[in-house]
Amino acid sequence: MAEFLPLVSYPNAPFTNQQRELWLEVGFGGGEHAYALATAHDDVSLIAAEVFENGICSLLSRLAPDDVENPVPLPNLRLFTDDARPLIRSLPDSSLGKMFLMFPDPWPKARHAKRRFVHPLVLPEIARVLVSGGEWRIASDDPTYQHWTDEVLAAQDLFAVTRTTGVRPDGWPPTRYEAKAIKAGRTPVYWSLRKI
Ligand SMILES: C[S@@+](CC[C@H](N)C(=O)[O-])C[C@H]1O[C@@H](n2cnc3c(N)ncnc32)[C@H](O)[C@@H]1O
Repeated sequence: MAEFLPLVSYPNAPFTNQQRELWLEVGFGGGEHAYALATAHDDVSLIAAEVFENGICSLLSRLAPDDVENPVPLPNLRLFTDDARPLIRSLPDSSLGKMFLMFPDPWPKARHAKRRFVHPLVLPEIARVLVSGGEWRIASDDPTYQHWTDEVLAAQDLFAVTRTTGVRPDGWPPTRYEAKAIKAGRTPVYWSLRKI
């Protein structure tokens, strides 16, 4: 698996698909959502970012199973195994068609609110890299984060909120984290935003 990582690492390993759009997933966890998106949209290139080693290994073992001798990288999925925030700062203006933030760490204590990914200071950074009309999908199962997200979104004019729902929309692949949250009795909220 260690030999496979350089073959799928962003930015060193180039995408090899015909790229209609570039998408970014922040914090892919076990990689279920990123893998499902990449396999469903072969005309899109997806950068999937994660810092958690177990998560990175989990997606790698899906891409390069132990019983496959010479695994071939998916042409349109590359892993960024570091903090997604500097990556976003390094991307050109209007370079992303969509961004995905599925169940971000909630940082529920008020004194840690500045670490939340959905944050008034982060929104302009996301808006800069998304194309006009581009989509930002967010999901959270944490009531404090849900309330916080609604408040942050109500106080900005970079994104239009096109949908807020408690039912996972079609085309949003499920994640293991989400399944655990529902089993534990929490109700996720799913937001679709459109860059104005
Ligand atoms: C609660 S988990 C959810 C994982 C996944 N999205 C899912 O739904 O199963 C949040 C993930 O975001 C990752 N993460 C948090 N901040 C990050 C950052 N700045 N860059 C990349 N990954 C990040 C964490 O390591 C963690 O795996």
